[in-house]
Amino acid sequence: MLKRGDILEVIISDLDEKGRGIAETKDRKILIYFVIPGDFVKVKITRVRRKIAYGSLIELKTPSKYRVKPKCRFFGQCGGCKLQNMDYHYQLYFKRKFVRRAFEGFNLDAHISKVDPSRPIWFYRNRMDYAVGQNLEVGLRKPEKWNEVVDIDECFLLSERGNELLNIFREFIRMREFKPFNTITREGFLRYLVLREGKFTSKRLVNIVTYLGEFRDIDELVKRMASSGATSIYWSINPRITDISFGEEIRKIHGEEYLREKIRDYVFNIHPNAFFQTNSYQAVKLIDYAAKLLDFRSNDVLLDLYCGVGLFGIALHSYVDRVIGLELDREAIKCAEINALENDARNVKLICGRAEDLVKHLKERINLAIVDPPRPGLHPKVIKALLKIEPREILYVSCNPNTMARDIALLSKKYKLDDKIRLIDMFPQTPHVEAMAKLVRR
Ligand SMILES: C[S@@+](CC[C@H](N)C(=O)[O-])C[C@H]1O[C@@H](n2cnc3c(N)ncnc32)[C@H](O)[C@@H]1O
Repeated sequence: MLKRGDILEVIISDLDEKGRGIAETKDRKILIYFVIPGDFVKVKITRVRRKIAYGSLIELKTPSKYRVKPKCRFFGQCGGCKLQNMDYHYQLYFKRKFVRRAFEGFNLDAHISKVDPSRPIWFYRNRMDYAVGQNLEVGLRKPEKWNEVVDIDECFLLSERGNELLNIFREFIRMREFKPFNTITREGFLRYLVLREGKFTSKRLVNIVTYLGEFRDIDELVKRMASSGATSIYWSINPRITDISFGEEIRKIHGEEYLREKIRDYVFNIHPNAFFQTNSYQAVKLIDYAAKLLDFRSNDVLLDLYCGVGLFGIALHSYVDRVIGLELDREAIKCAEINALENDARNVKLICGRAEDLVKHLKERINLAIVDPPRPGLHPKVIKALLKIEPREILYVSCNPNTMARDIALLSKKYKLDDKIRLIDMFPQTPHVEAMAKLVRR
């Protein structure tokens, strides 16, 4: 029987959806971070559960032929890009496999495209949420360690300019001896540094998230960040214990009200708390795929469910008679309204509220629907309402293949999958992937 502290040599035969290598033993599966299929490794068992054990890498005995040299020196500690020791095409192979596995799990016969790769595969993100650790580290957390932050001064996810802002912030809070917020004692102040940037506009938004308290010398910090390219600077207060990079009270300290991003010919204003697709280069492809897959008719009404700041509805408004965008986040809807105006998308109507409460009350006849829910997928009431209002086609967009497959199985009594499921890599160096499925009414 395997027990904690055991040391053994294993071959890694597969990868799980969190990016952990899987080794099969007679006894149970062992999950290990920072190893890849094909590796022969020595591991130490750190935890044993009924069916699964967890291990940590002690020695790489023989490397997989798919190993590459990690670009970042924090690889192996940081929970950010866990697959950067794996050849990019091998990463894509596994992403497709995860989606196939999810659909097979619900007995869905789905044709799944190869993953459309991201270009670039570094500096592709437009948003990073850096946590402030207990010793004023500023960076990302270690995998599975909510209270240990890796102090990162060079990160290849956002941009060189992003790194400059990150380092200005770190130096400032250390020089002035700020206190990090501690969720256990409920003491301290600093929580997160959120950096967002428009890849096609060169705009940069800084959002410093704190607990309650006085922000000493904020003007000095703002001056330094503004002279390093920050076009908007916000201070957000999260007065709760919940460890999220989201402020309930949010104050603009400097510059423009919103971050601006351009996707194809459309401009999007984005509130600091509003969602936007994190890889702007691939967001262009999301729009292109949606335009290609849906069979638009000029008198159609398109429902953009979970519309955020209006990305899909606005970019596709000219294909249809009318668009209805529905979104829970009030600030996102406000931005969507501004975006519809600025992009001259006059046929876009926006509604703020919960999809599960509102969809069944829509008065208009909906012909097409794009649904792009958060990771937990569609609420059962939304599925029920979609089955009742019966749009001719539904385009399901998701970053979670498991909830997507579950929902498509539930919709399958009235809808069938049409065309391949398209996979778009929004998240290189991680196990995540974006999927898009077209469903047509039976
Ligand atoms: C994955 S994002 C998609 C946003 C948008 N489609 C885009 O591409 O930018 C999901 C959105 O759903 C919104 N949301 C979450 N729960 C919701 C709910 N119950 N009803 C309506 N919108 C919700 C979030 O605020 C977020 O903007």
